[in-house]
Amino acid sequence: MRKENNLLTIAIDSPAAAGAGTQAKLIAKEYNLLYLDTGKIYRFIGYLKLKNKNRLKYDFVKKKIKVIKFRDLNNVKLLNDKVATQASIVAKDRKIRNIVKNFQLKCANYPPKKFNGSILDGRDITSVIMKNAKFKFYITASLEVRAKRRYIEFKKLNRKITYREVLKSLKNRDYLDKNRKISPLKKTKDSILINTSKLSKKSCFKKIKAIIDKKYINGNL
Ligand code: C5P
Repeated sequence: MRKENNLLTIAIDSPAAAGAGTQAKLIAKEYNLLYLDTGKIYRFIGYLKLKNKNRLKYDFVKKKIKVIKFRDLNNVKLLNDKVATQASIVAKDRKIRNIVKNFQLKCANYPPKKFNGSILDGRDITSVIMKNAKFKFYITASLEVRAKRRYIEFKKLNRKITYREVLKSLKNRDYLDKNRKISPLKKTKDSILINTSKLSKKSCFKKIKAIIDKKYINGNL
């Protein structure tokens, strides 16, 4: 496998439910990029932990990540508040982060040939996983706006949870993700800040696309 320098690489970090995933999917489609939602990997591990009565062996996680498929990450069972909380707990563990690092690096640097590049979103993408990405964004929104959006998503999935519970859970995850010792969520100096609180999906996408198109013309940077 060969690492190509002309890949369009985009790194996004954001707190939960800020709209990063929605934007990343739109950008991936627009520029034909491989998209990896890295939060889903931590959710997958959180889910394994819950399924194993809160016990998790590193060797077991290693084996699972070695054979992980994109379809495992699209499992609707991962879209659950308990799993999300568990994800942010396992994500504090340095050994767990090291286990999932290679998979993320492979997606970021060696996307299949049919793609023009890669786009990853998460908490440590701009600061650790894709330090040299051609574009870096920090996407955020107010806690209330994020809680409202997540609450609506849960309702659509028939999840039994109140708005207050969603708000509390996001606040707790923000705290864990921003204050942990290893790979905390932060806006790097070279990331462009996008606040989606008052933006529609479409206008947010337009804004991001304008930034990319300014540098990326006819498939070249
Ligand atoms: O993005 P999502 O809300 O699905 O992420 C679930 C959890 O996984 C986050 O709250 C965070 O603790 C963890 N995570 C992380 N690093 C990433 C992506 C997610 O620590 N790159």
